[in-house]
Amino acid sequence: MKVRAFVVLSALSLGLFVAVTLVSSRLPAPLPEQAAAGKKVWQRHQCVSCHTLFGDGGYSADDLTHITAQENPAQLIEYLVEPPVMRPNKYTHHPALDKVDAQNLVQYLEFVHTIPTLGWPPQRERAGGSL
Ligand code: HEC
Repeated sequence: MKVRAFVVLSALSLGLFVAVTLVSSRLPAPLPEQAAAGKKVWQRHQCVSCHTLFGDGGYSADDLTHITAQENPAQLIEYLVEPPVMRPNKYTHHPALDKVDAQNLVQYLEFVHTIPTLGWPPQRERAGGSL
């Protein structure tokens, strides 16, 4: 009797395992492929040494968590492919990316923008405004 219960339970567990594996393999990937490639570009070029995402990273440049809500993708790609000089610098250009890397990176930033942050980061106060 005990052996039969063991065999039945084992068979049920195996069935459940196979079912869960099959179902989960068909779920959409949480991170689109291009965005995943963009995340690697972000890491390889150490953008995080100057910029923050979700407030985590370097503080010498803007937080980029919701940058795609402020600038359109084409502008961002152009900025990264042909970067201007960085403030407060007069000669050093912002790090540059090739076109494919820049496109993937912007896809990554668009994905980051979809993650709910409850209004964070706070909007900058306007000088002289009554906010
Ligand atoms: C050495 C520090 C440094 C690194 C590394 C760096 N950035 Fe920047 N980034 C800056 C600064 C400073 C600015 C602001 C330049 C300005 O406004 O003149 C900027 C601006 C930007 C902007 C425009 C933001 C806006 O408000 O329009 C984007 C997008 C950006 N960086 C993305 C990146 C990405 C992607 C990487 C990695 C490939 C990266 N940065 C690496 C310092 C850096």
